[in-house]
Order: sequence, then structure tokens, then C-alpha cells
Amino acid sequence: MQMTVIGTGYLGAVHAAAMAELGHDVLGIDSDAAKIEALAQGQAPFFEPALPELLRENVRAGRLRFSTSLEEAANFADIHFICVGTPQLPGSNAADMVYVNAVATGLAPYLTRPCLIIGKSTVPVGTAARLSDLFARIAPVGDQVKVAWNPEFLREGFAVEDSLRPDRIVAGTSSTESDAILRAVYADILATGTPYITTDVATAELVKVSANAFLATKISFINAIAEVCDAVGADVLTLADALGYDTRIGRRFLSPGLGFGGGCLGKDLRAFQARADELGVGNALAFLDKVDEINTHGRDRTIDLAKEMLGGSLIDRRITVLGAAFKPNSDDVRDSPSLYVAERLRREGAAVLVHDPEAVPNARAAFPKLAYTTDAIEAFRDTELVLHLTEWREYQGLDPSVLFTMVSAPLLIDARHTLDPNLWRSAGWTLRAIGRPAPATRALEQVPVAI
Ligand code: UGA
Repeated sequence: MQMTVIGTGYLGAVHAAAMAELGHDVLGIDSDAAKIEALAQGQAPFFEPALPELLRENVRAGRLRFSTSLEEAANFADIHFICVGTPQLPGSNAADMVYVNAVATGLAPYLTRPCLIIGKSTVPVGTAARLSDLFARIAPVGDQVKVAWNPEFLREGFAVEDSLRPDRIVAGTSSTESDAILRAVYADILATGTPYITTDVATAELVKVSANAFLATKISFINAIAEVCDAVGADVLTLADALGYDTRIGRRFLSPGLGFGGGCLGKDLRAFQARADELGVGNALAFLDKVDEINTHGRDRTIDLAKEMLGGSLIDRRITVLGAAFKPNSDDVRDSPSLYVAERLRREGAAVLVHDPEAVPNARAAFPKLAYTTDAIEAFRDTELVLHLTEWREYQGLDPSVLFTMVSAPLLIDARHTLDPNLWRSAGWTLRAIGRPAPATRALEQVPVAI
């Protein structure tokens, strides 16, 4: 089938390559000419495992091309995926719809044949209906432009796998014809038994924001419990494992630590609330405020712990931060918890050196006053405190005995709970992790009990 994918960011670039991999004839569209040029050479515009290979193979096979022209898009196909970003609107909790709106108004004048617009971007509920009206008003073919919503659930770092083998496909449509087109687009994936949920557009839009709100809630839940664990010297990691065996709860997204960041969970949570407010049901989602607050509080607690370990003041203290990306296997630094902490420590007077294997260029552009390195070992030289804030696998392979000889003080905060505390402690390090007992404390030993 011929189709276009409009917007080639984290979502669109992967979706375009995945559609081509399924055998479709795909034209990727973006207003950023430099990005389009790189993609046309088969180069991924960001770090994402397996994406460069997928792009190269499909560009070479002739199934995947790129352009900056919406007119060309309209001429090329009658199926158009919208994959542009919906970031947080500056000064508001709502989603910024400027990119979605620009695609709709830019494409509409060229739509002279009946076609299907399939939204994949995460949007406020009601967007599909609004776009449908807009196309009916301004497209030459009028209400022959149908709008469907088919939310995407891919995770950065696993985007290719998630796109080619999704755990479900949600198709919000307003007609059986549109539904049939979506089934045909995904035929190969559906043939493997992937669940396909047919629904109306509003439900489909809501599925996506509800999923992200739920995932964020699960993370904040375990981080709130971590704080209680700290108060009594209990171990949140063991607790999470024990909860996870209950299949009604499950262990996934119950990893305590520095909390969520990135371009999705936080802003989707806020946009969902803002939309609920507009719809007059803000109270129903008021708890999401707390979810967001717990998340920010976790970052602040890590900063407080750093200060405590350094004896109170950060002025001129040398601190190493391991990890800049909002999560491993990504170079995305949008709302990175790690950089939030690093920048705050710097502003309070510390000399902060940040290491990341992939995200240094993006981190430097966002926080130019922090110092950076891509050498994980050298990052330890003469430092007084190490914060492990993004759990890249390579950090688990570091040798704490060697690093012990390089630092000024062997102090470590493991905010992601993925370093082996026994290994580091037996090499002489003082390791602290929020929600986990320090070696000297035992559960309830130091807890004042009110009788
Ligand atoms: C998230 C969702 O997981 C995807 O399903 C969704 O498609 C995507 O947003 C989106 O809306 O585009 P992503 O932002 O790539 O995906 O990353 P996640 O794997 O969800 O991680 C988000 C953050 O939560 C990271 O900072 C991660 O470190 C943190 N996290 C995750 C935890 O702190 N604990 C956990 O147990 C899991």
C-alpha cells in the first residue's frame, strides 16, 4: 500500500521505517530539510537501536523515500499518518497543537481525492473530530477526507521492536471503510495474532493518554513507597519484587528510583489533566497532580541526599553524574531527571561532570554550563561524589576497586538501583540508594514509635 508518514521525529521516523519493512511504499515528510536529507541517505536523526539498519535497508530497497513537500505527500498517497510532536505548551499544562494544526492546514488544500488521515500523535481527546471538521471545510474533496486515530505505544530504546511487534493495535475510526484500511495496513502484524481493538476516535485518543497516565502513576506509587521505606529502614526493591509476583499488579514499571522523564509521560499527564479541566471533569484526574509532584519530589530528594553526603554545602565540590539521557538506550534528554539534578547541583555551586555514552551532544545543547565526557572511567578522576542517575548497562560493568583508587572520596548514590551494592561496598565505597537501607540500619531499629 502507498502511504505517507508526516513528521519524522522519534515516532514518525520509526513508524515510516516500520511501515516500509512491512512492505508498504512509504514517503516520509518533515519540514526540517536537514533531517530529510539525512533520512534519505538512510541515516537515523537520533540514537535508536536497530533503526539505522531498518532505514538503510528500506531506503536501499526503494520502499522508503523522504520529502519536505506536503503537496508531494497528497499526490503520492491516500493514506497519511500524522506523527508530529505535541509538546507541552509553554506557560500551560496543555498540549501544544501547533504542529498537528500546521500539518492539517498545510495538507488540506492539496487533498483532491478521498483519503484517510490516521493520527498517531498523542493528542487531547476531541482532536480527531476537530480535524475532521477542518478538512471538511477546507479540503477541496471536503468530507471525503476521513480521520482515524491509531495511537502509538512504542518506547524509546525499543521503538523498532515495539513497532514491528506491538502488544496491541488500537484503531479509532468513524466508518467500516476506514477500519478496513487500517486492518490492511497492519495485516502482517495482525496475522501473528496481535490483538486489534476497533473503537471510536475519542476512545482511541483516550486509550493513549490513559496508558501513559497509568504508567506514570505506577512509577510514582513505588517512589512514594520508597520514601516510606526510608523512614523505617525497609527495602523498596524487595518490596517491589514481592508486589510484582501478584499478576494483578505486575513488576513492570514498578522500578523505584529517580522517576520518569522524557518527552511523553510528564507532558501527557499534564495535558490529560488540562483537557479534563476543559471538559469540566478536572476533579476526576486531580490525583495526577500528586503523581507529578511525587516525581519532582524524588528528584529533589536525590539533590538533598547529595548535599547530605557532602556535609551540607555544594560550593566547589566535584560531582560526577553518570547518565544524561532520560533513560538508557536513548539520546533523548527531554525532561531528563538526570540533567534536572545535575543542573540544580551546578547552580548550587558544585562542579558537575556528566557522562553519557550517547546523549552528550543533546545534553550539552540543553545545559551548556555543565561539563561533559564520554569516557566513563575518566569521569571518576578526583571526584568527591558520584551519582548514578541513568541506568546504562555499561555502568553495571564498571570495576569499583579500580575506580576507588581514582576518586577523591568514594561516595556513590545509586538513584536507579541497578548497581550491585555489595560489590561497591566491599570495594570501599559508601553507597546510598533512596528506599534501601544503608548497611548500618536495620528495619525499625531507629524508628521512633508513638505508643
Ligand atoms: C512512554 C511509554 O512507555 C510508551 O508506551 C509511549 O508510547 C511513549 O511514552 C510515548 O507516549 O511516546 P518512553 O517515554 O519512551 O515511553 O519511556 P518509558 O520506558 O515509558 O520510560 C519513561 C520514564 O520512566 C523514564 O525516565 C524511565 O527511567 C522511567 N521509569 C520507567 C521509571 O522510573 N521506573 C520504571 O519502572 C519504568
